[in-house]
Amino acid sequence: MAGIRAGLVGVGPVGDRIYCCLKEREIPLAEPLRVMATRERREILAGEKVLVREISPELFEDLDVVFFAGREGAKGASVQWGSTAIEAGAYVIDNGGDYRLEPDVPLVVPEVNMDTVTADTRFITSPNCSTTQMCVALAPLHRTARIKRIVVSTYQAASGWGAAGQEQLQAQLGQLAQGQTVEFDPCIFCRPLALDCIPHIDAFLDNLYTKEEMKMVYETQKIFEAPDMGITATAVRVPVEIGHSESINVEFADDMDAATATEILQDCKQSPSVVVIDGPTSDPNYGTVRAKVDLNREPWADHRYIDERAYPSQADILREQYKDQVLVGRVRDDVTRPNTINFWCVADNLRKGAATNVVQIAEEMLKRGLIPT
Ligand SMILES: NC(=O)c1ccc[n+]([C@@H]2O[C@H](COP(=O)([O-])OP(=O)(O)OC[C@H]3O[C@@H](n4cnc5c(N)ncnc54)[C@H](OP(=O)(O)O)[C@@H]3O)[C@@H](O)[C@H]2O)c1
Repeated sequence: MAGIRAGLVGVGPVGDRIYCCLKEREIPLAEPLRVMATRERREILAGEKVLVREISPELFEDLDVVFFAGREGAKGASVQWGSTAIEAGAYVIDNGGDYRLEPDVPLVVPEVNMDTVTADTRFITSPNCSTTQMCVALAPLHRTARIKRIVVSTYQAASGWGAAGQEQLQAQLGQLAQGQTVEFDPCIFCRPLALDCIPHIDAFLDNLYTKEEMKMVYETQKIFEAPDMGITATAVRVPVEIGHSESINVEFADDMDAATATEILQDCKQSPSVVVIDGPTSDPNYGTVRAKVDLNREPWADHRYIDERAYPSQADILREQYKDQVLVGRVRDDVTRPNTINFWCVADNLRKGAATNVVQIAEEMLKRGLIPT
């Protein structure tokens, strides 16, 4: 296959992971990725020193695809430069939230609704990170038993705010360790995040939900093409650097229970990108052994000493084999309602929640001949 000419706008943590994914997933590139941001400099991306150019119309010339990973809003990258990229002939795949709910713009999770991208599509959006992982896990269950209602609470990492969010948490943890007063910038997190959980992500709306919570509602309804699907969300920022977790309670219109859901989610044909980590330990000495756990070791090697059952947590998503997966555990029946289950769901917000998703979209478009090479 001849290579494509690709551009990347934005070199925050999402841009860095897009650079990484493009290398790892071997999308054929006809020329080095054209990397742009607000100003020219050299930047380390995926361990390589890369020339970042100041964004300008000429840089979009001859590009086949542009990945946007800039900030959102009127001064953001895709609002300012999206149409320039399209006019120059490129397909745009955008991580930001500015166009996700536009009726003519596909909002895509490749495992769920790739068919919404057609030969006429030029601008494609990728959902909010918490929506993406939830939809990957719920889609196979929805196909089987139709979802009626979702109640979700999120536990979202600092990096969801971008590079500045991650840096702010690191600085605060350092200040705490040294017994110093914790400083915070309320434009990033509205109070100190270190050793606290903040039930406030993005602005409050008139209905007293936050924008982040309503994004999960509207984006999920759009992806599942189910405007009547009942969804209620509580989004919480937690002092974790990378990785979002979600506690999901889901009620189905048709028959469903935890055992059936587990079987479906364990089937990689029905549930691509999902890994179920859920089961009893065989250790008879559970709870009696105190162990030192090396988090860099293979997963689960130490877990028999500390867990009664296996389940995924945010630390697991940083392990190489899970970085592009959605991990599911704690699958159980909701004892208060029929056809209703609870489960726990974890993913890397920067990779499957953003970078991996957009690169998978491009890969799939190439496979389907939607991007000519
Ligand atoms: N972080 C996540 O978990 C996550 C998940 C899903 C989606 N997203 C979305 O992905 C996007 C990137 O996220 P991030 O966390 O990497 O953000 P970030 O750390 O704030 O980085 C933003 C990057 O975009 C560049 N940029 C901003 N405005 C620009 C403009 N007008 N023209 C050109 N470049 C511009 C910045 O350039 P300079 O470096 O020159 O300032 C910076 O490199 C955002 O839209 C975010 O909403 C993020």
